[in-house]
Amino acid sequence: MQHALVAIILLLAVVLAPVHAQQGERPDTPQHPWMNKALSPDQRAELVLAEMTLDEKISLVHGLSMPRGTAPDPTTAAVLARSNGGAGFAPGIARLGLPDLQLADAAVGVARGAARGRYSTPLPSTVALAATWNLPLGHEFGALVGRELRDQGYNASLGAGVNLMREPRNGRNFEYVGEDPILAGRMVAQVIKGTEDQHVIGNIKHFALNDQETGRQVASVVLNERVMRETDLLAFEIGVKEGRPDMVMCSYNRIDGIWACENPYLLTDLLKRTWGFEGWVISDWGATHSTVEAALAGLDQEMPGDAHFGAALKKAVESGEVPLARLDDMVRRILRAEFASGIIDDPPVTRVPDVFAGFDLAQRVAGQGSVLLKNADGLLPLSAATLKSIAVIGSHADLGVLSGGGSAKVDPPGGNAVPPAPGEMGAIWHPSAPLEAIRAKAPQARVEFDAGTDPVSAAALARTCDVAIVFVNQPTSEGRDVPSLALPDGQDALVAAVAAANPRTVVVLETGGPVAMPWIDRVGAALEAWYPGIRGGEAIAAILFGDVNPSGKLPMTFARSDADLPQPKLPGSDLTPQPVPPPPGAPAGARRRAQLPPFDITYPEGLKVGYKWFDAENKTPLFPFGHGLSYTTFAYSGLGVTGKTVTFTVRNTGGRAGAEIAQVYVALPASAGEPPRRLVAWERIPLEPGQSRTVSVAVDPLFLSVFDVQKDGWELVPGQYTYFVGSSSRALSLRASTEY
Ligand code: GLC
Repeated sequence: MQHALVAIILLLAVVLAPVHAQQGERPDTPQHPWMNKALSPDQRAELVLAEMTLDEKISLVHGLSMPRGTAPDPTTAAVLARSNGGAGFAPGIARLGLPDLQLADAAVGVARGAARGRYSTPLPSTVALAATWNLPLGHEFGALVGRELRDQGYNASLGAGVNLMREPRNGRNFEYVGEDPILAGRMVAQVIKGTEDQHVIGNIKHFALNDQETGRQVASVVLNERVMRETDLLAFEIGVKEGRPDMVMCSYNRIDGIWACENPYLLTDLLKRTWGFEGWVISDWGATHSTVEAALAGLDQEMPGDAHFGAALKKAVESGEVPLARLDDMVRRILRAEFASGIIDDPPVTRVPDVFAGFDLAQRVAGQGSVLLKNADGLLPLSAATLKSIAVIGSHADLGVLSGGGSAKVDPPGGNAVPPAPGEMGAIWHPSAPLEAIRAKAPQARVEFDAGTDPVSAAALARTCDVAIVFVNQPTSEGRDVPSLALPDGQDALVAAVAAANPRTVVVLETGGPVAMPWIDRVGAALEAWYPGIRGGEAIAAILFGDVNPSGKLPMTFARSDADLPQPKLPGSDLTPQPVPPPPGAPAGARRRAQLPPFDITYPEGLKVGYKWFDAENKTPLFPFGHGLSYTTFAYSGLGVTGKTVTFTVRNTGGRAGAEIAQVYVALPASAGEPPRRLVAWERIPLEPGQSRTVSVAVDPLFLSVFDVQKDGWELVPGQYTYFVGSSSRALSLRASTEY
């Protein structure tokens, strides 16, 4: 299967070699003074800016987007023809040696809309990457995305979403990095750095608090500043400061009634003044709602078109409503980023992607990101030598593995492994069949597949086998949230039936986020594989048969049910979409899709996002944040705290090598008014059997602080700080206190 897959991929890569392999606009004009690499990006930007006409400045601060064949004139058509087909395109300025800006979605690989039939690696979901807690792996992830964007002629990524998982039913949790701002912020920063290191403009999104899809274009998130700064905005602060993206994408929603893309506090006071962000703010697609307000608030570029920042902005500048200095600042930010990122000095040169490097990374991320949730009586790893019969059931495990929907979709090589029903969009399934990989691991066993559509049939097969492996899935996508944490399509009944027929039942979950598991006490083992990417089947089989010792840890809390969540009902889910009148001047009969009425999302949990809610409410989750089992065991000892450095020892007390992600949590002084504990640091420690390692982890003072709104700054509250160290947020075997 793998060879056939590789052949398909290579054939695709050759036959569909980039049609629009757009060499970056190489300035073949005489060397402009700003092409002097000895100058700083700021100096180079100033030199170009001084040469630009008003029209050229305006052309840089919006996209050029119109349906193919509708260009108003041949000149525009010729410019539009230079687009590489990605989500965004802003023409460069040849006389100044400025390249076209070719922007592509790339959250988990160069997205299908941008790839346009060219091969790119379908990576595992970024929630799987978060579950590795492995920051260098995050950098590798971002670097591969950057390389493959360049392979296809793109010079700007629209990936790297870091919206916190406040809402476990959010359809886009799969392309984010979990519920904790420090884990999320540090991981997304590595993805961004990896991409930027490839001389591709990096991005961070969706700024900010676009934490659910329901009503994303009308809802207003209402939270006080301290809560925002210590949660969602902390993830962005870390992502921006450590990742240094050249772009920040502002989000669709309002914050306290003001559109994110025209929110002066968010875009100017906080992002640019307080955090010192030197890049540019790009709107989400269609998230620009005005010309003057948005420009003055700090939006620097409208995407995908020019409804507000084209002729309207030129008029506003000429009238003085928008000072020329503000337009210059918008343009300067873009120019500076183009020099700083390297897209001018080292424009992309198209080539066939390194398919095998993509396979290798995808399998490593899926292997390290899968989380062993339960393993009763050592049911796993399975023994290929002794197993005589294996039932593999459900979730198209005979064909492939699931991936997420929306702008992050990556084309499956060779076509969707599970073709959608006629007339349906359907989810994308990547051709990495777990069934095939399991058969390869146990060649001597009878391995039979049951589709899982009929629990009776599945149970009958399970009854005749030594072990039953049930695959379940939860399709999620941009543009919609899931109605509840329950698995869809009767899969709970399927698992229950199989487990009743065979107690040696293993459940493998392919989900975009947390799900409820009413059957968990009746199965022997459960493995969360998320959306595992182009080598997902192989990665899952390698864990099931023990070639890989699982080390993943949950980057989010798995609640027992919706009733245990801060908001048992998803905000806005009970509202009815209302008809929306066509815009003024629209042609007769024009219709617009009905839209939800505006509504507020208040997030009553406030500071207590995820595990902090369960700790504060003393609720027991199904599986806690930071949870993940191994095929070996670890012991913790010797905790010491000196200043803000934590030292402790971890020993591998089991019989096989493994990696432990040791986590450090802190309880702040009661006077701080904070949730019981917060993650402040972690360390991934590979250990041979019997091996011990003593680690010292320096804790960033920012991670120990609270945000003081009156002082408009971070404060270390004086008092007693208690450190906890252990293998999850609920398995903290060491504790020690200190005073600051
Ligand atoms: C979408 C998404 C954003 C994406 C953009 C371009 O609406 O919110 O993540 O980058 O449009 O496709």
